[in-house]
Amino acid sequence: MDIIIKKANLKDISTIKKIEENIYPDPWPPILFKFLLSRSPDLFFVAVHNEEIIGYIIGEVISKKGILFGHVLNIAVKVDWRKKGIGQNLLYELEKKFLEKKVTLSYLEVRESNLIAQNLYIKNGYKTVDVLELYYKDENGLRMEKNL
Ligand SMILES: CC(C)(COP(=O)(O)OP(=O)(O)OC[C@H]1O[C@@H](n2cnc3c(N)ncnc32)[C@H](O)[C@@H]1OP(=O)(O)O)[C@@H](O)C(=O)NCCC(=O)NCCS
Repeated sequence: MDIIIKKANLKDISTIKKIEENIYPDPWPPILFKFLLSRSPDLFFVAVHNEEIIGYIIGEVISKKGILFGHVLNIAVKVDWRKKGIGQNLLYELEKKFLEKKVTLSYLEVRESNLIAQNLYIKNGYKTVDVLELYYKDENGLRMEKNL
């Protein structure tokens, strides 16, 4: 299995859009992916197998009172490619980039019901620090974070 993680580019967005629409009930529009890519091109990665995009991760770095925080905005792996360590590798690449940028804490939001994603985050050292009431239209979110 020859999978590489690399920086995303504009021509990847149409495939990312399809993956996103297959996975989420409330998919992000392509314009948002394009905006995030142009804002932080080094914090948007794709997982690729034989030139096929099979997953992606997007982050942003936020500065608050001089401290840098890494925010994991989105991570997804195509259904057929799950449970092969790809989500893990995507998260690792993003955190590596956060570290290069001197980020000291990585955080994210996840649906309360999304135990699979929570498992991924817990396995990678994230802890739940807050319940975000109706963070999603129909459900609470959990805020999870990890010191890098
Ligand atoms: C969450 C997601 C990105 C994980 O991707 P993945 O490539 O399948 O994950 P990995 O194979 O790297 O698994 C890493 C860990 O995640 C957890 N995990 C992954 N799939 C799981 C499953 N079906 N059941 C329970 N835990 C699971 C496990 O802790 C796993 O470690 P292990 O293999 O040692 O048990 C993927 O399931 C996905 O795209 N889900 C839909 C989108 C989503 O929910 N994104 C998160 C939004 S906050």
